[in-house]
Amino acid sequence: MTTAIAHDLDRVLKGSPYVAYSYAYPHKTAYRALPEPLPLKDAWQEERQDSLFLYLHVPFCEYRCGFCNLFTLSQPEESLPRRYLEALAREAAANRAALEQPRFTRMAIGGGTPTFLSMDELDELFRLAENLLGAAPREISVSCEASPATLTAEKLALLRERGVDRLSLGIQSFNPRDAHAMGRPQASRDVQRALTVLRDADFATINLDLIYGGSTQTRASWLATVDEAIAFGPQEVYLYPLYVRPLTGLARFASWDDQRLALYRAGRDRLLEKGYQQRSMRMFSRGSPVEGPAYCCQDDGMIGLGCGARSYTRSLHYSREYAVRSGSVAGILASYIGRSDREFEYVEHGFELNADERRRRVLILSLLQASGLERAHYRRRFRRDVLDDFPQLLRLAERGLAEIDCRRLQLTASGLERSDAIGPWLYSAAVRRRTEEFQWR
Ligand SMILES: C[S@@+](CC[C@H](N)C(=O)[O-])C[C@H]1O[C@@H](n2cnc3c(N)ncnc32)[C@H](O)[C@@H]1O
Ligand code: SF4
Repeated sequence: MTTAIAHDLDRVLKGSPYVAYSYAYPHKTAYRALPEPLPLKDAWQEERQDSLFLYLHVPFCEYRCGFCNLFTLSQPEESLPRRYLEALAREAAANRAALEQPRFTRMAIGGGTPTFLSMDELDELFRLAENLLGAAPREISVSCEASPATLTAEKLALLRERGVDRLSLGIQSFNPRDAHAMGRPQASRDVQRALTVLRDADFATINLDLIYGGSTQTRASWLATVDEAIAFGPQEVYLYPLYVRPLTGLARFASWDDQRLALYRAGRDRLLEKGYQQRSMRMFSRGSPVEGPAYCCQDDGMIGLGCGARSYTRSLHYSREYAVRSGSVAGILASYIGRSDREFEYVEHGFELNADERRRRVLILSLLQASGLERAHYRRRFRRDVLDDFPQLLRLAERGLAEIDCRRLQLTASGLERSDAIGPWLYSAAVRRRTEEFQWR
């Protein structure tokens, strides 16, 4: 988010294609302290609660990758995960009390690295979801993130038995030199061992995450990584452009944008050639379409539990404070663990979405999917035409970045590869200002 967000499309096109990943709108950097604490009960009372998404955040990792700007702490002191889970249970109980009759239809465990937890701790996460929140993970779709170094056959068996049907593994690069240069201290033997145990486990969907744009990456080394991922045969592959955020410790180098764009195109073409379909700038899958997490969240409420988790009602998005630097993350974690039961009953930090922001959210999240925005869907939802609300979209079509007909607005291949510039171009002035003013710590 260091790049100033331009609102003139020509400036956007001349600028970097890599401004911000708009997987959620607005980004957490636009959240602020609410004027006064709001009871959870009040935040949810007007909301439908029969199709909620449950997200559990595990803010621990074996190591801290140089590029990572997620809310996580590496090598936490030994008792910290246990104390964190105790606080998570209290937060879950407060949420259950605030909700009338919640029904969870999707669940995800993310991080950080959920598989950093021990077997007992992982099991505790599911007990908490079932016993305190009434979720039924074995009956719904459940996704879990993992890193190679922390994955074991026993943990996979536990996740499978508990109902996880999608396992997402962060590979980033199969090339040790490229991984290290990105700031990922990953051993090849851990990657190979993780893939061996994963191959033997029975997940309906396996996803592999890869990153392009590291300083040592060449077209050949990148394509070797993409090929190795394809050879494993995952249902999904995510290609992430490397982002270097304030405070994450890596430096930019010349023509980085050109390098990332060239590697993106090479990786995309290879996946398409091998029968994968492109679902968004980052996501590729084979078989029947899988709904990406961002897309699912448009209609459903989300209850996010844990220190780095976000929750969404239609008009309020909220979370704890956001930080990247390890001292700040540790401080926010300590205050999360120290919260009283009563404090867990209140929302303190977030973003209120007015009618314009709700429409923008649907527009941005839908437009950045390869399938685009269905105009009838927008009309049904908001009783207005999307082009009346956002006439600037016509300029995307004039520049060859989108195709617009009476049914749909859809990015072209050149629009899709500029998703991380087009998303921010559509941010409201208020979100743009807050995001730019955010004090990274
Ligand atoms: C929560 S992690 C995945 C699980 C696990 N922590 C791991 O790293 O193996 C989410 C994914 O986001 C991507 N990611 C995180 N920070 C990134 C950055 N600065 N640039 C590009 N991709 C990034 C990585 O591909 C990573 O696998
Ligand atoms: S990329 Fe994954 S393992 Fe690395 S610091 Fe971020 S969350 Fe942890």
